[in-house]
Amino acid sequence: MLLTWFSQNGRDLPWRRTRDPYAILVSEVMLQQTQVERVVTRYLEWLERWPTVDTLAAATTADVIRAWQGLGYNRRGLNLHHAARQIARDGWPDDLTQLPGVGPYTAAALARFAFGRDVLPVDTNVQRVQERTGHAFSPRAGQALMDLGATVCLARVPRCGLCPLAERCPSRGRRYEPLRKQSRFEGSFRQRRARTLRLVAAAERPLAALDAEAVDSLARDGLVRVEADVVALPGEATIRA
Ligand code: ADE
Repeated sequence: MLLTWFSQNGRDLPWRRTRDPYAILVSEVMLQQTQVERVVTRYLEWLERWPTVDTLAAATTADVIRAWQGLGYNRRGLNLHHAARQIARDGWPDDLTQLPGVGPYTAAALARFAFGRDVLPVDTNVQRVQERTGHAFSPRAGQALMDLGATVCLARVPRCGLCPLAERCPSRGRRYEPLRKQSRFEGSFRQRRARTLRLVAAAERPLAALDAEAVDSLARDGLVRVEADVVALPGEATIRA
């Protein structure tokens, strides 16, 4: 039932047309905190530029940080780069959580979608469908559950009239309280960091011209480097005054 629904209503997403573990890793890391619609083009561009683990491993950190701009949570880009270097050197680890930036969810998504292992990746959408239906789904239902959660079994007002599971769902017809809103980006420290990184990615800058707290925090994450009061992307030469 669910799988029939999926074959007719599933979203055609580019990372579903491949089982290349590297491509799936790129997609899952991008999808961790960025919406599907925004990820699609960025994913395609990324793979065009760095089609394999080895090409990404050979990229400079500065180029990776620049290419990640706009996706948010820039440490994810750095982690992806480090993961590629680790895989290029040692191959794929058995325990995928040994890769930087890969937690239990991303490891399960890779295991299922790239390596065909028998695990169900449970993201927030899948978890919601599980809780509401009380059903233990097969790993084969992974992509279908993600789409059901994203398009039908919505957080506040589920569209039970369209749901292939409604007939047997104990939560059918229920409404839910608004969830916590994601904290505002506008005026946040995250925004100050993003702005500062954007300036430095365009050209190295004197520390005095930048938001010092943001620089500090970016430097601690390895996203920028401060040398002789000049702030640059890591690995890029600073021009001495
Ligand atoms: N979110 C995280 N992984 C996803 C996937 N493979 N398809 C759709 N949305 C996702």
